[in-house]
Amino acid sequence: MDDPSVWVQRYAPLVPGGEVLDLACGSGRHSRYMQALGHLVVAVDRDPQALAAAAGDGIVTSEIDLEGEGAAWPFGPLRFAGIVVTNYLHRPLIAGMLGSLAPNGVLIYETFADGNAAFGKPSNPDFLLKSGELLDIARQNGLRVIAFEDGVVNTPKPAMVQRICAVKEEFPREAALLPPI
Ligand SMILES: C[S@@+](CC[C@H](N)C(=O)[O-])C[C@H]1O[C@@H](n2cnc3c(N)ncnc32)[C@H](O)[C@@H]1O
Repeated sequence: MDDPSVWVQRYAPLVPGGEVLDLACGSGRHSRYMQALGHLVVAVDRDPQALAAAAGDGIVTSEIDLEGEGAAWPFGPLRFAGIVVTNYLHRPLIAGMLGSLAPNGVLIYETFADGNAAFGKPSNPDFLLKSGELLDIARQNGLRVIAFEDGVVNTPKPAMVQRICAVKEEFPREAALLPPI
């Protein structure tokens, strides 16, 4: 589970230069991956042990309970060239998160979706994306969708997942070189 997600690996090269936010980073598999691509990474989680594992050169860790009572989006005016979220969903954060994408910033999001109960946890609908939800969020917020998938995967374990790569496009459009198939 320490290997970076193939989805993140595939679309990470589209993130322009600048800082990357790894939201609910866990032990930092994507923080390290994005740092290795040359980004300064802000790695956020509420779990101090996970953050200790995530910390490293070019990775600034921040212990925040993103869902605490009265919790507001913690990044105010900061803008990120990329935001990576995997295996985490707290819908009240989404508007603030998208507000923190810099112009031409890239969102890479992958988490469990409706139907995952057939495979195990999470099974609570609060933690499962509804059919097409990430696509709807991207479109409603004016992001250009580079790629979207919604279905069953077998690796790293059988699960129902949804995943998106989308750009907060500013004009004139920057040429985004798609990864080879
Ligand atoms: C399933 S792990 C995913 C970790 C990482 N994104 C990955 O895919 O490897 C979910 C993470 O969300 C973090 N988390 C859960 N609730 C949180 C909260 N209220 N505030 C901050 N982090 C939270 C957990 O501590 C955990 O590290």
